[in-house]
Amino acid sequence: MLGADQVVLKPRVPADQIEQVKTWKTPLQPTRETLEKGKQLFQGKAFCATCHGRDGKGLGGDIEPGTLKGPLPRDFTDQEWQAARTDGELLWILKNGSKGTAMAPFIPLILTEDEAWQVLLYVRSFGQNRDKPQVEGQP
Ligand code: HEC
Repeated sequence: MLGADQVVLKPRVPADQIEQVKTWKTPLQPTRETLEKGKQLFQGKAFCATCHGRDGKGLGGDIEPGTLKGPLPRDFTDQEWQAARTDGELLWILKNGSKGTAMAPFIPLILTEDEAWQVLLYVRSFGQNRDKPQVEGQP
């Protein structure tokens, strides 16, 4: 029997694209400034927090459990999930959405590709120790 973890970790990118998609690399460095921009997008105009929660752990307060079709948003603080995904796979999701789920495409209607990379830096930061963020250029 497959556990819930396997379902969550299963790649979302189709097999015929995934090798290519894994080569996509973020052009941004996680600095205070880029992370702050990503946070503003996550909580603001890109409304990611509505479904993913301000804490990144899953359902946001605005949506009742059971109202989203398909799998629920995953826990972005799950280190195993973070490790299972390349940056390219996350960007692919923002370009294409996740078929059969409530996760819609955000590029180019809501986010530019550059903004998408910013928001993904913030998504990545949920997987790190929040007390000691691994941000370059910090005092
Ligand atoms: C309407 C609710 C909703 C909104 C708004 C939303 N998401 Fe999602 N998101 C989901 C759901 C549900 C899934 C799970 C899809 C799946 O299991 O394949 C998901 C999946 C994802 C994934 C892929 C997870 C994986 O395993 O590869 C990423 C990354 C993601 N969302 C980021 C974002 C970002 C960034 C935003 C804002 C730009 C956002 N989401 C906005 C509901 C939402």
